[in-house]
Amino acid sequence: MKRKKILVAPSILSADFSRLEKEVKSAEKAGADLIHVDVMDGHFVPNITIGPAVVKSLRKRTALPLDVHLMISDPWFFLDDFISAGSSLITVHAEVCTLSLIKKIKAKLTANKVRLGISLNPGTPLKKLYKMLDLTDLVLLMSVNPGFGGQIFMPAVIPKIKALRKIFSRDIEIDGGITDKTAPLVIENGANMLVAGSYLFRAKNREQAIRKLKNG
Ligand code: DX5
Ligand code: ZN
Repeated sequence: MKRKKILVAPSILSADFSRLEKEVKSAEKAGADLIHVDVMDGHFVPNITIGPAVVKSLRKRTALPLDVHLMISDPWFFLDDFISAGSSLITVHAEVCTLSLIKKIKAKLTANKVRLGISLNPGTPLKKLYKMLDLTDLVLLMSVNPGFGGQIFMPAVIPKIKALRKIFSRDIEIDGGITDKTAPLVIENGANMLVAGSYLFRAKNREQAIRKLKNG
């Protein structure tokens, strides 16, 4: 299989929320391909973050696609709000979705020209996805337990990436603990999209940091 272009999606969870526009513009200028927005509901994960209003405001301030990661228990309830806020890609968690719900979500997203991603927590086996694979544009494999930025990469995700790449030719995105040390591991096993929060927003030179991630 031809190697896919590596895309970097800075997670604004690690940005300075008091100057979000500047942070997003700085990531854009540094070479980001998408902006990753971590939505948490305090229920699916033990933290609360961003809602549709912030996505809507960001949509006006960047030309980059908004990669919205819903770490919430009821993605269907909030789907319309995130679509109309201007999300480009919406990722839901397989742990809270049946196959029939994924079909419903997919139909609504397609009608609104929004791409679908499905995410798995580190502890959720790949087989949870098998029947959903044909429906999804992207699989996001968590390499930390979702809820917080700045956690340590869990290497157990590596065989999962490798196994998924054998059966799935679309986008594989990895989220959690991505740095210049862990990026090469995930890329060489088949990932083509990297979420990077703390590594990128803490870097003195963000352009160089993104370049390092892409060069694997
Ligand atoms: C974790 C979030 C991640 C997080 C990544 O629950 O889904 O997107 O912001 O942060 P880092 O790159 O610092 O691990
Ligand atoms: Zn995320």
